[in-house]
Amino acid sequence: GISKMKKTIRDYDLNEKKVIIRVDFNVPMVDGKITDDTRIKESLETINYAIDNNAKVILLSHLGRIKEERDLEKNTLSPVAKRLSELLNIDVKFVNKTRGEEVDNLVLNLKGGEVLLLENTRFEDLNGKLESNNDLELAKYWSSLGDIYINDAFATSHRSHASNVGIASILPNGVGFLIEKELNEFEKLNNPKRPYVVILGGAKVSDKIGVIESLVKKADYILIGGGMSYTFLKSQNINIGNSLLDSENLEFAKKMLGEYKEKIILPIDSVNLDGNSVRTCFINEIKDNEIGYDIGYNTIKLFKTYLENASLVVWNGPVGMFEDERFSSGTKGICEILKNIDAVKIVGGGDTASAVINLGYKDYMTHISTGGGASLELLEGKKLPGIEVIEDK
Ligand code: 3PG
Repeated sequence: GISKMKKTIRDYDLNEKKVIIRVDFNVPMVDGKITDDTRIKESLETINYAIDNNAKVILLSHLGRIKEERDLEKNTLSPVAKRLSELLNIDVKFVNKTRGEEVDNLVLNLKGGEVLLLENTRFEDLNGKLESNNDLELAKYWSSLGDIYINDAFATSHRSHASNVGIASILPNGVGFLIEKELNEFEKLNNPKRPYVVILGGAKVSDKIGVIESLVKKADYILIGGGMSYTFLKSQNINIGNSLLDSENLEFAKKMLGEYKEKIILPIDSVNLDGNSVRTCFINEIKDNEIGYDIGYNTIKLFKTYLENASLVVWNGPVGMFEDERFSSGTKGICEILKNIDAVKIVGGGDTASAVINLGYKDYMTHISTGGGASLELLEGKKLPGIEVIEDK
């Protein structure tokens, strides 16, 4: 496991120390309300450990992306501070600033066991992208607030920003429990139990190119659904009507199918929208004006034949537009198959995770990653800078 290679929070005496913990509180919000607090809940173990060990806890996180002045208001971490207070059952202090005298004083007055959350680190992106460009002065300032730095923002670890790589380059550091857990789960993919079956979905082929290139070599089968499957179908001269087409990646799709014909499994039927009416048809019967939004029953049955025998399943990307009830059967069908098989089941990617959780299948999965981009980069076999930077044991 990672804890044999990298320092962790357990390697430090936290008593009365100012401990900066980088978490990923980049949670979905609608009108200032958190719609999924999974990432906050997943950070509790590390925060509680620090509290129990009498640390003065300083939390840093980003939320959304800040490009202009008007992005500030809707991306404040203030609602997160409230939710975190409820979950920890203590009064989390929140300061709506990322630096300055008020921050310094709050840190100075922090007592062991207390928690302070600073404002969204990306507020520092407004003038010169200081956070996202890993600005050294900013990293030095944040480092000046603490004695020890713990990175537990797994979902941000593919970024090299001031609040993760920057601070870790300056302060004594380690990873938290969430990063440890995530990496231990993904480690199972290095020496995979076989058959190893991957389900890939989501809208864009371009998001998954690296993953496909890496996994066709490692996995036994890749089942492709979702918006991206229509580009693969089109590359086989199948009429996809008005379905989503990523024309720039048609050649890539064709090449992959040419080389790995037996490994890459495509849908054999499709649920389509034609105006307002929904119609399921075999894959070679899609009409010119139809748009495919989900895999059909026969595809679910076909995918099941592969999944039934699998020992390891990785799922990244919904296989249909599940947010719309009419096109949720495919994703539900996959959930139902996974529920009933005895395999290691790892789910990654923000949309897939929320699909599985919202449809009520969370408890049937071995691991649901909090990482979107980070989990994709791990699947691609890339190194994550936010983890690489942590001190070796
Ligand atoms: C995520 O949601 O994937 C992480 O929080 C990273 O966010 P980002 O893509 O805006 O860097």
